[in-house]
Amino acid sequence: MDVKHWDADEEKRCSPENIAAFSDLLKNRLQTEKAINTAIGTDTLDNQSNETLEAEASMFSFEAVSAGVDGTHHVAKGYRADILISWGDPVMGDAPEFDANHQTPEAQEKQFGYNNDSIGFLPLPRGSKNPDHGLLVVNHEYTSRKLMFPDHKPKKEKKADYGLRLCQVEMAAHGLSILEIEKNRNGRWQTVRFSPYNRRITPLRSVLDISGPAAGDARMQTKYDPDGFHVIGTLNNCAGSITPWGTFLTAEENFNGYFLGHKKDHPDRLKLKRYGIPGKWFDWGKHDSRFNIDMEPNEPNRFGWIVEVDPYNPNARPVKRTALGRFKHEGAGIVLNADGRVVVYSADDQQGEYLYKFVSYKAYDDHDRRANFSLLDEGTLYVAKLDHIGNLDWLPLVYGHAGLNEENGFNSQADVLIDTRLAADLVGATPLDRPEDVVPNPENNHVYLMLPGVEARANEGRILELIPPQGDHTALQYRWDLLLQTNVKATTHKHRRKTDPKPDKQGLKKDWFVAPDNCAVDGQGRLWVTTDQGEYWGRSGSADGIWAVETQGRKKGAARMFFRVPVGAEMAGPAFTPDDKTMFIAVQHPGSDGAKDYPPFARESTFSDPVTRWPDFNSKQPPRPSVVVVVKKDGGVVGS
Ligand code: FEO
Ligand code: CA
Ligand code: CA
Repeated sequence: MDVKHWDADEEKRCSPENIAAFSDLLKNRLQTEKAINTAIGTDTLDNQSNETLEAEASMFSFEAVSAGVDGTHHVAKGYRADILISWGDPVMGDAPEFDANHQTPEAQEKQFGYNNDSIGFLPLPRGSKNPDHGLLVVNHEYTSRKLMFPDHKPKKEKKADYGLRLCQVEMAAHGLSILEIEKNRNGRWQTVRFSPYNRRITPLRSVLDISGPAAGDARMQTKYDPDGFHVIGTLNNCAGSITPWGTFLTAEENFNGYFLGHKKDHPDRLKLKRYGIPGKWFDWGKHDSRFNIDMEPNEPNRFGWIVEVDPYNPNARPVKRTALGRFKHEGAGIVLNADGRVVVYSADDQQGEYLYKFVSYKAYDDHDRRANFSLLDEGTLYVAKLDHIGNLDWLPLVYGHAGLNEENGFNSQADVLIDTRLAADLVGATPLDRPEDVVPNPENNHVYLMLPGVEARANEGRILELIPPQGDHTALQYRWDLLLQTNVKATTHKHRRKTDPKPDKQGLKKDWFVAPDNCAVDGQGRLWVTTDQGEYWGRSGSADGIWAVETQGRKKGAARMFFRVPVGAEMAGPAFTPDDKTMFIAVQHPGSDGAKDYPPFARESTFSDPVTRWPDFNSKQPPRPSVVVVVKKDGGVVGS
């Protein structure tokens, strides 16, 4: 999701001082490293010729997709990219056929939602590593009204009914889809239409539980839920991950945007301000009092959490796990530590915000699945503090410690968790450059953090590598390093180790990318990074895509494009089958971003006049966000 929606309060957080703070940190880090490398004589790779580096071993062997922008998708030679499911296609067996011109909330809540984001694949049967049959969990992050609905109200529909219908269709198009999928006899993936697993979870009607230290707190109580243990819906679900016990963690990101009202009369107005509430991006608060803070002052406290969903049990309520803190969670990268405890990394996606990790008290139990359902309710939440010589300290956010007490407005651990951003401010966390996805690599126990950069310096995206001592994810001090830095304005793509790829036919350097957003580590420990340039795709001269990134050897930090999205889309959701022979990816908001800057179109893209009608290319159908399945034509491992 691009950042154009940020409100004025939030923009103040992006002060020049704040931006400068992180830049200085990096500059100092690089200078220090250079000095050390020079002293010990290892600073030679930067001076190697590209030809020398080309000959080095790679973790990937496909030919890169060329940079560019057009109305459709492109995948590396030798691969097939098929549409698995698109917005409006049936999820529930009895879903009506999609009719873009006559959308209803009743139909939408049985159909695939809008703007597919993170994807999780869970094999069937549970506990197996079956690469040909499983459940797909898909987040639907947000909706785009201009591209979703016809431009005019139907003549016969009353204005109030029309407004309510659009709002409820949007709600039903948010949340998650769970689908049973399998390979058919021809080896092609398809959805299983009448599967008992198929399910939609939406902010329109789905009831979720709230657990952990903030559950039941007075600040979690509303008129609908006077006990503070239940909430309708999950919102702005961005990235996520699969737990070792086969559940899916989904992150509530820009939840502030869904609220209307006036914060000046609110008892917690300074706290609201810190979270940019009310963001007023959607008009739901006009139709549903839950989204109006004047009517329901505590409702925003019930969003901004990590939600755990059990796709194997279609009757299980999803649970908001408050122990993991409340902020604009980009994602939730979980790893099983060597001692059995689980650690969840999560970043707060906004300029100048922080990186967090949660460490469970108890250990994972391989023999008792149910026992693991409480693992994310008890543990310690930490926030990261980085210094310029590569140290990373994890600071605990615990009530009664480090000033997190009544004197500073924290009356309980529930307060610390509901106001995680304020707690992190107080303990001295390090502001980061719009931290997005953060994913551990079980092969080397390093952790990758995506920093796309802010708009003004958007070409300076970075990927940091966090290194726990002896691979211990519960440790309180790590090292951090720069895996790569993107910089399209320079004459070379500046990786941590500089490379200088030859321009392709269009004169573009196809190894360049900007704005790293989501990422995934496949079964072999290889890193795949997706990009989201927002309105500014022109920055790189190419549409967004997914990139294979080298994480070891002398090519470390080098990248090549594997898949490119159609104009206006961003790339999200990489997920793999256990054999790494199928990759699932999400093409989000095709035909949306940057249409005005795209010379062949150069105007606003709308439902009736979209810049592309991908993937149907049918004049009666608007562009549709879709999940794409990528396989190698010869049946090999993706990326080989
Ligand atoms: Fe949902 Fe930060 O992207
Ligand atoms: Ca995104
Ligand atoms: Ca993102």
